[in-house]
Amino acid sequence: MSLYSKLQPKGPSGFGYGSTAEDVTAGLSLAGKTFLVTGCNSGLGLETARVLAMRGGRIIGTARTAEKASAALAPLGGNTIGLECELSEPNSVRASVRAVKEALSGARIDALICNAGIMALPVNEQKHGVELQLFTNHVGHFILVTGLLDALAEDGRVVMVSSRAHLRAPKGGIEFDNLSGARDYAPWKAYGQSKIANLLFAKELARRLEGTKRTANAIHPGVIFTNLSRHMNPVARTAFRVLGSLMMKDVAEGAATQCYVAVHPGASAISGRYWVDSNVAEPRADGTDLATAGKLWAVTEEIVARLPVG
Ligand SMILES: NC(=O)c1ccc[n+]([C@@H]2O[C@H](COP(=O)([O-])OP(=O)(O)OC[C@H]3O[C@@H](n4cnc5c(N)ncnc54)[C@H](OP(=O)(O)O)[C@@H]3O)[C@@H](O)[C@H]2O)c1
Repeated sequence: MSLYSKLQPKGPSGFGYGSTAEDVTAGLSLAGKTFLVTGCNSGLGLETARVLAMRGGRIIGTARTAEKASAALAPLGGNTIGLECELSEPNSVRASVRAVKEALSGARIDALICNAGIMALPVNEQKHGVELQLFTNHVGHFILVTGLLDALAEDGRVVMVSSRAHLRAPKGGIEFDNLSGARDYAPWKAYGQSKIANLLFAKELARRLEGTKRTANAIHPGVIFTNLSRHMNPVARTAFRVLGSLMMKDVAEGAATQCYVAVHPGASAISGRYWVDSNVAEPRADGTDLATAGKLWAVTEEIVARLPVG
């Protein structure tokens, strides 16, 4: 915990900047519940899996390879299963949907925590004609979540790990006429776009889930020094690490908001919102625009429909 963390007040939920994933789940029994966590082998995903398992939950964790997922989850005990889900490979994501359903063998997912992500790739990379951060962070998770909706519990929750960096998305949120990112590529703009896409996806999913007990929300975990910064230049990365110990959250604090929204009773009836420090917050206005959210859903469906299968 940084000095800054210690000085921050708590919000209406009773938790705040300095709360940890263990704090926000204290006293909760998650026995009999199942959680899917993407990117379970590193950073916030690993801490989320650890704490939800510690509270008795069954963890289905995904990583780029099954070996990575299983190796990360092994120390957490027996009630875990590691599966491959390479989010930039549609066939891997589709196989993951099948493997998750097989692992569930009729059980339901209580919360689906879409945590995996990449940030600020230095040059424009693409998958199937889509900028790679948008594909990995948004399209990959879109295939996963929509494929698993029929396995979501009646009161199941979908948590999209977005970022305050959604503020760096282009004006209007999504450049629908530049999904490849080839025109004027900029690393932070592209990352911001992928993270506002997480917000818009949660918004539209929440709208589609209206009238049910299921929820969909997006969160910003805080700023935490993790492997996510691997693509930053070495000087900025070093400054990030040094400042981190003074100002930023540590991983235990960083995993709190996604754990709170995934399991805490205080979040059970809230849907379509953006959360920061385990409290509801306001994102950029175009991050909640229903028309943009609906358009993104439709455009993503079109992208997914033309992806190769097999
Ligand atoms: N750390 C922060 O300050 C911060 C701030 C705001 C938002 N976030 C968000 O928090 C989430 C977790 O990030 P983190 O900080 O914990 O970073 P991290 O330690 O780098 O973890 C990211 C996870 O995503 C996985 N991943 C990356 N590309 C993937 C792909 N193509 N297919 C499947 N898995 C993939 C990584 O796998 P490998 O280990 O194999 O690469 C890793 O497990 C991200 O969505 C990030 O955008 C983080």
